[in-house]
Amino acid sequence: MKPVEIKPGIYWVGGIDWDLRNFHGYLTQRGSTYNAYLIIDEKPVLVDTVKHYLCEEMLSRIRQVIDPARIDFLVSNHVEMDHSGSISRILELAPQAKVISSPQGEKGLRRHFTADWDFQVVGSGDEVKIGQRTLKFLLTPMVHWPDSMATYIPEEKLLLPNDAFGQHIATAERFDDEVGWDIAYEEAAKYYANIVLPYGEQVKKALDAVSGLDIDMVAPSHGLIWRSYLSKILDAYYRWAANEAEQRAVIVYDTMWGSTEKIAQSLCQALEAAGLPVTMKSLKTNHISAVMADVLRAKLILIGSPTLNNGMLPSMGAFLTYLKGLRPKTRIGFAFGSYGWGGQAVGEIEKVMRELNWRIPLSGVNLQWVPEERELDGVREKGEELANILKQG
Ligand code: FEO
Repeated sequence: MKPVEIKPGIYWVGGIDWDLRNFHGYLTQRGSTYNAYLIIDEKPVLVDTVKHYLCEEMLSRIRQVIDPARIDFLVSNHVEMDHSGSISRILELAPQAKVISSPQGEKGLRRHFTADWDFQVVGSGDEVKIGQRTLKFLLTPMVHWPDSMATYIPEEKLLLPNDAFGQHIATAERFDDEVGWDIAYEEAAKYYANIVLPYGEQVKKALDAVSGLDIDMVAPSHGLIWRSYLSKILDAYYRWAANEAEQRAVIVYDTMWGSTEKIAQSLCQALEAAGLPVTMKSLKTNHISAVMADVLRAKLILIGSPTLNNGMLPSMGAFLTYLKGLRPKTRIGFAFGSYGWGGQAVGEIEKVMRELNWRIPLSGVNLQWVPEERELDGVREKGEELANILKQG
C-alpha cells in the first residue's frame, strides 16, 4: 500500500482493482487501477480519487505522505464514480478543501452527491497557483463524458488527462517501461476501442490542445503512466482519432450447426491466400469487448450470422448493438450467413453497416442449409474480390 513518487513531491496514491473483470460490459481480464495523484506544495492537492471500495487503500497511501486533513484542493477531472467515488470521504477528512471541476463536472457531482461542497469551477486555460506549482486546466468534453477535463502542471511537464490514454490493467508497476510497450499498447488500444472510439473528433481537438504543451509524462486515471513511450501512444491516439485502420481483415461470426462457420473459413482462406492478415473471432469464444480491439485495427470487417427466428443469433445482435454505439468509421463491410428458411440475418447485418456509413462494395453471401463445395468456391471468389478492393484502398 505504498505511494509512488512519480515526480519530486507528486505521488501516485490510487487503488489497484485486482479482481475487476467486468467494467460495465467491458471484459477487463487484467483488472484495473484508479489513479489518484497527490501534489505536495504550499496548498496540497489531490487529483481525482478511487472507486468507493478502494478508498481506505488510497487513504493509507496518502497518510504515508501527508495527513489527508491538510488537502486544500480536490481536483475532480471527471464525475464518473470510478474517480469521484471517494470524494465524500476525503471531504469529511478535509472539510475546508475546495472541489475544482469543469462546469459540467459541478453539475454532475451535484447530481451524484447531495452534499453542499465548496466548488471552484474552471474553464480551459484557467490556472490555480498552489505554491511553487501551477494547475492549469484543459476542458476535454466528450473525452469521454461532457464534464471531462485534464489538469496540466507546467513546472513538472506533467499532464493528468483522466480517462484519456488509460488502460485497464492491474499491475505492481506504475510506469509504461516497467511493463513494456506491447502490453501497455494492447491494453491502451482495447481501452480506446471500447471507451473513446465514438469521440474521435473530440479526441483530435484535445490532441491539438495538448500538442502545444511541454510534456514529458502523461499520467492517466487508469493503468500505467506514460513516460518512455509517450510519443508512441500520442501517435497511436492520432491514428485512432482519425479512424485510420490497417490493411487487414477481421471476421466476426457465430454459427448454429456449422454452416456459417464454413463460410467464415472459406472467406478466411481466400483473404489469407491474397496475402492479407486475417483475425477470426467467433462470438462463442470471444467477448464483444475483446472483438472491438480487432475492429479498431482492421479496415475490412466481415460479419456473419445464421438466421434464427426471423433474425440473427442473439450473440450477433448484442455485438452489433455494441458496435453501433462505438461507431467505428471508414470501414469496408461484408455480411454473410446461412439459413434454412427466411434468411433475414444477412440483410439485418448490412443494415447496421449502412447505418455506420461503411462501404459495402459487394452484396453479402446468404446460403441455404449446408453449403456445397461449389458454393464455397463462390464464397472464396468473393473473398478474393474483397482482398483486391482492400488493396486498392
Ligand atoms: Fe474511468 Fe469515465 O471513468
